Formats: sequence, structure tokens, C-alpha cells
Amino acid sequence: MAGKFITLDGIDGCGKSSVAESIFRTLEEQGRDVVLTREPTDSWIGEAVKRSISEDHPALTEAFLFMADRATHSVEISEWLKGDKIVICDRYADSTISYQAASLSLEGFDEDPFEWLKGISDLYVLSPDLTILLDLDPGVAMERIQLREKITKFENQDFLTKVRENFLRLAEMEDRIKIVDASPPLSAVAEEVERVLRTVLD
Ligand code: TMP
Repeated sequence: MAGKFITLDGIDGCGKSSVAESIFRTLEEQGRDVVLTREPTDSWIGEAVKRSISEDHPALTEAFLFMADRATHSVEISEWLKGDKIVICDRYADSTISYQAASLSLEGFDEDPFEWLKGISDLYVLSPDLTILLDLDPGVAMERIQLREKITKFENQDFLTKVRENFLRLAEMEDRIKIVDASPPLSAVAEEVERVLRTVLD
């Protein structure tokens, strides 16, 4: 497949969306054919996902909603890649493996939810050329999150600690995942992300 598929991931509060926008602008200024997209998406399936986050549903329901949103989104991403575009995606499959494994564990899911979700994911998702994992201490992430107007049910320190462990477990398993320290100011983080990006872009 032509094009390049770059995903950004990390716990809430890591600054991922701001970094994604910053690198998108830089690539655009360089005249690159680049698309910035995100999950949950803005489609009706993505809206259902957002609704489920704001309501109280079993973790399994949410896991399937996130995966359904991704199934449709992946078709769209494939088309962009076929058109030689650089696709920057703010969250992708690693989020479901990390967040929903944490939620399913809390609900006492019988299987190892991490392995179970990774197994399903490996069956249908696109493999990114590069995943930037913005790593941040959950205590620092919570300090940033407290400044926001709205806090979601995922945004508590114990939960984010488990999610971070899952992201780091994935990073140990997958060479495509590069960890970037998200604790410095945004401009420094974006600069480091751009440096890592150059390793996969010509
Ligand atoms: P956002 O803050 O990046 O818009 O994502 C919304 C929330 O959804 C955030 O708390 C992370 C969570 N999430 C999952 O739990 N699983 C997923 O697969 C994705 C894409 C997001």
C-alpha cells in the first residue's frame, strides 16, 4: 500500500491532539499531501461511541462500538493511503487494546482482555508505519485534565495508570511503536515527534 500511516496515542492529558495538529500543520507547510483524522470519528458510529463514553454501558459494549467505528474508518484510511497520502490518525487500535482492556479487567472479564482485544484487532486493523506513544505520568496527566471543563469517566488516575501500563506493554511487543516523553512543553514534544517522523518519511 502506498502512502504512510502514522498514529498517535497515549493516555488522556498527554497532549496528543495538540501534537497531531502541530505536525499536521508542519507537513502541510512542507507541501505534503497529508490528512489529519481521529478516533472516535465524526461519523454517526463515532457519535454513538462518544455517547457511550458519556453514559454507563458495559465495557464490552463500548469495546465493540470503538471497533465498529474503526472498521469503517479503516476503509476510509485505506483509500487515502492508496492515494499516496500521509495519514495522521489521533488514536487508533492501540487505544482500544489499552483502554478497553483496563475497563474489561475492572468488570472481571474472564479472558485476558489485553490478549483478547489484541487478537481481534490484529485480524482487521491496518498496521501503522509508525505509532508515536506520548508517554506521561498519570499524576501529571490528571493535573492537566483538571483544568478542562468536562472530565470523562476514563479520566481518573488509577484507571489511567492501568491504561498506561497497557500502552507500554504494547510498545514492548511492537517495533512500530516509538515512545516520546510527553512531559516537556508542547513545542518541545512536537519537535521530538517531528524528528521521529522523519525516520519514516522520505
Ligand atoms: P479523545 O479524548 O482522544 O477524543 O478520546 C475520547 C476518549 O475515548 C478518551 O478517554 C480515550 C477513549 N478511547 C477509548 O477508550 N478507546 C478507543 O479505542 C478510543 C479511540 C478512545
